[in-house]
Amino acid sequence: MFQFGRGSRRTVGLDIGSSSVKVVELDHSGSIPALVKFGRCGLLPEAIVDGEIMDHDVVVDTIVELMEANEIASKEVVAAVSGRAVIVKKIQMDVMNDDEARDAIQWEAEQHIPFDIDDVSIDFQVLDRETRPDKMDVLLVAAKKEMLESRASLLRAAGLSAVTIDVDSFAVQNAYEQNYDHPEGTVTLLLNVGCFVTNVNIVRDGVPYFTRDLSFAGNSILEAVQKDLGVDQDEAAEILENPGEERLEDLQSIVGLVGEELAVGIEKSLSYLRASGEADHIDRICLSGGSSFAPGLRESIEKHQGSPVEIANPFRNVSWEEGMFGDDDPEILGPHYMVAAGLALRQGGD
Ligand SMILES: Nc1ncnc2c1ncn2[C@@H]1O[C@H](COP(=O)(O)OP(=O)(O)OP(=O)(O)O)[C@@H](O)[C@H]1O
Ligand SMILES: [Mg+2]
Repeated sequence: MFQFGRGSRRTVGLDIGSSSVKVVELDHSGSIPALVKFGRCGLLPEAIVDGEIMDHDVVVDTIVELMEANEIASKEVVAAVSGRAVIVKKIQMDVMNDDEARDAIQWEAEQHIPFDIDDVSIDFQVLDRETRPDKMDVLLVAAKKEMLESRASLLRAAGLSAVTIDVDSFAVQNAYEQNYDHPEGTVTLLLNVGCFVTNVNIVRDGVPYFTRDLSFAGNSILEAVQKDLGVDQDEAAEILENPGEERLEDLQSIVGLVGEELAVGIEKSLSYLRASGEADHIDRICLSGGSSFAPGLRESIEKHQGSPVEIANPFRNVSWEEGMFGDDDPEILGPHYMVAAGLALRQGGD
């Protein structure tokens, strides 16, 4: 457990996304986590492209500015990676203890990871030791070392250090489990639609059954709006955020088509789970990320997936002092902070 000051146990989640950096600080000394600070700061569009840092200095300055503007004193943060450089897979291994598994995982990973094994860092968690008499379920996570090093060097340059580097999808899951009831057996699809990446995580009873990042998100919506309405990128972004009455219908139908494509990607994930006999339906969907605001996306996903879609709010089961949100509604800000809040929910080492 990390102690940042007497009597307080605080953690800072820092979500470095391609379109903005978000931060959430939580205090864990009470019965439920208390929100201490939160904020976000937009990045120039070229600073991070598809998760890759293009302009190191701009990103560092943005992180520093965000931490200062929100008066966050802690220098230790929980950060995350996502996208193509990260692979999450549920695999089966012969039953063994954790130490033996640590030795065996490298060989197992070579069979499951499409990267050179020397280029990735591997982590794992035993999910179920009794899948079959002689087999256990293991969650294998591999992240490109290059990506992890790039994150660590960004943080160092911003005067910070990472206590943990997590994965966006798991942070979303963490925030979901803290804030929503999840009755036994319920299959939940967690969808975090960002700028370049959509984090898909199908969860049942706390276990991520299928975790994949699709390279299809807000940017795809933006391109569709540009093309269909014949406007440039800035105009498309403006229309997306403030469509006005006259453009709303056009926009909903464009976003609806994008939602349909997203649904096809999700369907592929689900067919994988069906084939393995692990889940044949989805009970509910929780939608987060900046693109969850795109007019018509929620409805389109609901229609194609046939399950109710809830817009995520990571501040539902978190306490805060009156006035912290000013005139803003936490329900409306919530979807932006799902990853950052989920990261801040990680208390040292877990
Ligand atoms: N009000 C809004 N209406 C429609 N789209 C929006 C709105 N606000 C933000 N977006 C879109 O949300 C996306 C940014 O979402 P988010 O902040 O979750 O992404 P990110 O974490 O920065 O990026 P990534 O995780 O993909 O690297 C952008 O594509 C932006 O166009
Ligand atoms: Mg993101």
